[in-house]
Amino acid sequence: AQDRRESLFIVTNWAGKFFMETLWDTEDGRTIGLNYFRERGYRDDIIKKFELGYSPEAWTALYDRAKAEGHKDEFLEATGLIIRKDDGGSVYDRFRGRVLFPIHNLTGRILGFGGRTLKTDKKTPKYVNSPESEVYHKSDVLYGLYFAKKPILDADNCYLVEGYADVLSMHQAGVENVVSSSGTSLTHGQIRLISRYTKNVTILYDGDEAGIKASLRGTDMLLEEGLNVKVLLFPDGNDPDSYVQKFGSTAFKAYVAEHQQDFIFYKTHILLRDAGNDPIKRAEVIHDVVASIALIPDEIKVSVFIRECSGLLDIQERALITELNKIRLARH
Ligand code: UTP
Ligand code: MN
Ligand code: MN
Ligand code: MN
Ligand code: MN
Repeated sequence: AQDRRESLFIVTNWAGKFFMETLWDTEDGRTIGLNYFRERGYRDDIIKKFELGYSPEAWTALYDRAKAEGHKDEFLEATGLIIRKDDGGSVYDRFRGRVLFPIHNLTGRILGFGGRTLKTDKKTPKYVNSPESEVYHKSDVLYGLYFAKKPILDADNCYLVEGYADVLSMHQAGVENVVSSSGTSLTHGQIRLISRYTKNVTILYDGDEAGIKASLRGTDMLLEEGLNVKVLLFPDGNDPDSYVQKFGSTAFKAYVAEHQQDFIFYKTHILLRDAGNDPIKRAEVIHDVVASIALIPDEIKVSVFIRECSGLLDIQERALITELNKIRLARH
């Protein structure tokens, strides 16, 4: 089994080199792939550091090269690099004409890829990702963690973003303590991974409806694991990548420093904004905020947040504690 895992690693890392060589050393790679990354504002040192690549616009470019170099169908298929047609006979490359973000494990070996289309039509899926495999367990992998381990320890804080592009642009802006759950929604496994390095997480999700929803879900999961949570949403549908590229790294850092909020302020603010003056809806907000507080394992923190919440919502602490206990009882 260990040999088989090693064989899978060998093909994914071989493919990483193939995609990188295609990006830098072929005509299409340079004019299409490299040009795309540069147009997005990525510097060459970042493109190299993250081992970005390009897959030729052809059905079997990777497959043909793999066969010529002696790689076995079995391992190419098990890592999802090639796909076998339903008829069982013919195979084709998963990644075709896409720019590629390799996903590294904690020691820097490649587990799989995220492939972005360069097309702008609505029907092509924006990202195609490697499937789960014996070496790639998505729920236990964070994109960027290999590069962020030391920066997270140094800062004693981890920025959590939605996408590959966000990780890259933040690195380029000099903010290297950043990871993304790219391609899956945040899992408890990923949170435990972060908590090996720090107990402080700042969620920087996209400033759209999906980002808000995901930030509230992520907040609760992080609180449940005993982490301290801050949140910030970017304005006007921006994400960290678009913000950095539009306004520059100094403005980005200033925005983050100024706008990140402790989860209790963030959640209360977001929910109250939607509730308006409707008393029933305001009561629901109180319930929802207390429900988040009730997830926190540390009793001292719980009482600090109850007090904070009492001030924010203008409700007596005693009433909030009654609510808290009700929620806890209902959960057991
Ligand atoms: P976004 O739609 O926010 O993409 O999805 P993005 O990261 O900002 O991408 P750019 O800037 O347009 O290139 C966030 C993340 O969700 C996953 C990817 O990991 C993406 O980075 N995703 C998104 C997919 O896996 N598949 C998709 O079709 C879309
Ligand atoms: Mn988004
Ligand atoms: Mn949970
Ligand atoms: Mn985005
Ligand atoms: Mn983006």
